[in-house]
Amino acid sequence: GDVAALVPAAGAGLRLGPGAPKALRHLAGEPLLVHAVRRLLATPDVGCVVVAAPPGEVDTVQAMLPEGVLVVEGGATRQSSVANALRAVPAEYTIILVHDAARALTPPAVIARVAAAVRAGALAVIPVLPVVDTIKRVDDAGDVLATVDRAVLRAVQTPQGFDRKTLTTAHDQAGDDLTDDAGLVEMMGVRVATVPGDDLAMKITRPLDLKIAEALL
Ligand code: CTP
Ligand code: MG
Repeated sequence: GDVAALVPAAGAGLRLGPGAPKALRHLAGEPLLVHAVRRLLATPDVGCVVVAAPPGEVDTVQAMLPEGVLVVEGGATRQSSVANALRAVPAEYTIILVHDAARALTPPAVIARVAAAVRAGALAVIPVLPVVDTIKRVDDAGDVLATVDRAVLRAVQTPQGFDRKTLTTAHDQAGDDLTDDAGLVEMMGVRVATVPGDDLAMKITRPLDLKIAEALL
């Protein structure tokens, strides 16, 4: 495939509670990162995977992944971890996916859908789901200011897909740390397209998420 996948995996996992860095925590006997990379490699489009490992864990991470997967050291922010991985991608890959290690159960069909939309000409593509909860805007005291129209909102997942030049330019121009790469592209005024996400692409963030993921496997 002509697609390279970057996997930011350098976070501490503070919201999951005390323990190893989140990407190295186990789900059904294997690190979250191993689950995520397996699903990327099961997607025929993906020809290259670059993982941004937790500081000091590059060798440990390399040893748990199949040969050919590139491992670099991550940074203090997600954005810097992605930037480090992006620099390691060989020149021949023109489509770049950025995929959270914490979305360990993301189906290959979602990965393929995002890659296909970039190949079809989109400069940036994100998988999304409708928002199921009613959403309110509140003031500093926590009192309700307004109810937001849920119909125009989407919850955003990964992998997020990009034309390589677009992502590289976005990272070169990036200022503040954002929680996703499409946000950097939006700030350049580039249109970001959406494709359907999947419940299985949920981000494992809190202890309950890990229990749900165990039940799903
Ligand atoms: N990430 C990263 N480098 C960082 C911070 C986050 O590569 N400095 C990665 C995480 O490893 C994760 C993804 O970005 O795969 C999404 O971040 P998040 O779910 O917030 O993970 P953590 O930052 O590890 O968790 P927390 O915010 O609870 O500490
Ligand atoms: Mg975080």
